[in-house]
Amino acid sequence: MGSRVTFFEVEILDWKTKQQLCFLDKVEPHATISDIRLMFHKSYPQWYPARQSIRLDPKGKSLRDEEILQHLPVGTTATLYFKDLGPQIGWTMVFLTEYAGPLFIYFLFYFRMPFVYGLDDKLTSSPHPVVNLACICHSFHYIKRLIETIFVHRFSHGTMPLRSIIKNCFYYWGFAAWLAYYINHPLYTPPSYGQKQINFAVIMFLICEAGNFSIHVALSDLRRDGSKIRKIPYPTKNPFTWLFFFVTCPNYTYEVGAWISFTIMTQCVPVGLFTFLCFIQMTVWAKDKHYTYVREFKDYPSLRMPIIPFLL
Ligand SMILES: NC(=O)c1ccc[n+]([C@@H]2O[C@H](COP(=O)([O-])OP(=O)(O)OC[C@H]3O[C@@H](n4cnc5c(N)ncnc54)[C@H](OP(=O)(O)O)[C@@H]3O)[C@@H](O)[C@H]2O)c1
Repeated sequence: MGSRVTFFEVEILDWKTKQQLCFLDKVEPHATISDIRLMFHKSYPQWYPARQSIRLDPKGKSLRDEEILQHLPVGTTATLYFKDLGPQIGWTMVFLTEYAGPLFIYFLFYFRMPFVYGLDDKLTSSPHPVVNLACICHSFHYIKRLIETIFVHRFSHGTMPLRSIIKNCFYYWGFAAWLAYYINHPLYTPPSYGQKQINFAVIMFLICEAGNFSIHVALSDLRRDGSKIRKIPYPTKNPFTWLFFFVTCPNYTYEVGAWISFTIMTQCVPVGLFTFLCFIQMTVWAKDKHYTYVREFKDYPSLRMPIIPFLL
């Protein structure tokens, strides 16, 4: 006698009003959240799958695409909640706007476009070699990010909310303009300790960039099998990844290090302020990621701190 499949009924409610938006009858027990998103999309063409956050709890985390209905803690009549994430933008657009923006904006100041510092200084160049070096480091940083976004990162989401990209662009473009304005200014004065300070900063900058890149490769290697889940990252043979012994987000530690180096190199207050804001932002994210790992993995290494070894 063949075994009988028990179909599920799935009702999808609005996460805020709890009003029923959709009722799906006879859903296969093996259906994934991705399948459910597609079924929901049929009823609501304006809410394409990437816009949908489907949750078990109205205020809880979004369920992942690959999660299977019968493995969720629900009965054969499942109640799921929907939240509209707003319009989404594909990654190509995201990184082009977010990262190529600062690269381009910095050049406007570096080459002293006529409308930047006034006509007397138009298209002139700074007499200080550190200004050229700063331009090379700044460009290197954003070109590296573009390359990583195309060739290294294996993101779990294909899109980003339009709202976040607008916010991020204000942040990255605005700061790039602000930093570039001061560093390339005709009245800019080079660092107090001269070449020694600059050399130290460049070496530190390169070490941090190499470290940041190594961590991104190590994270990407965790998804070589094509999965989208988050596993515990561990140190590899590459010594730059050994920071994983002590922190959860060494890529953020290295990123902050790179900006501290850039601050030392240029000795410029706006750069220091930008570095400080980056540090605050990344600390908030690192703490969030850290406590998520601790919650999800019983065997999560206890020595690790979110972003700064033994401290924070
Ligand atoms: N200057 C600034 O203010 C600032 C701020 C933020 C970031 N950044 C820079 O941008 C870089 C990327 O930022 P991010 O926030 O996207 O970093 P992230 O959360 O560490 O993620 C980097 C990549 O690794 C993946 N990943 C993370 N943890 C993973 C795990 N446990 N298993 C498998 N894959 C994992 C992520 O995938 P998913 O997240 O898609 O799952 C993503 O593709 C940072 O390292 C930093 O260099 C700069």
